[in-house]
Amino acid sequence: MSTPQTTIFSPATAARFDRLVALYPVKRSALVPMLLYAQDEVGYISDAVVAEVAQRVGITELDVRNVLTYYSMLRTKPIGKYNVQVCTNISCMLRDGYGILEHCKKRLGIEHKGTTSDGLFSLEEVECIGACCWAPAIQINYDFYDELTPDKMDQILEDYKAGRGKETV
Ligand code: FES
Repeated sequence: MSTPQTTIFSPATAARFDRLVALYPVKRSALVPMLLYAQDEVGYISDAVVAEVAQRVGITELDVRNVLTYYSMLRTKPIGKYNVQVCTNISCMLRDGYGILEHCKKRLGIEHKGTTSDGLFSLEEVECIGACCWAPAIQINYDFYDELTPDKMDQILEDYKAGRGKETV
């Protein structure tokens, strides 16, 4: 591991990375958490993120890219400010998860993995997000919403659009 002389990350994130690589007996164990924190800060895993994380962990950029291709929650392209992840796994599917997904597609005018032209919303169909008892469920960034109906979904999207999403309060 080597701490770069200059960093693309904020001082807080750079310090967090210093702690993370010192925490594990095998330094590459810090790789996935570092990539997730990097993604939160930068918005996606850019080439610059790959280069600096590889240097910090002491592995090659190819090693980092191999991990990137494995984890679907890691992104290599920018997305919207709010990433709407709609679960269509079994419990949600049985309770109209696909209906909610189609409703979001229509409402936002985008498809799976699409981003609205104003950069506000992205949409993704995802596997179980662990809210099966309250299906159908979605996640927007780190916030969960459950027992959804199309009307409830509309209200949630309107709230985010108006700056009233959970993360903004
Ligand atoms: S099946 Fe949708 S949250 Fe588990």
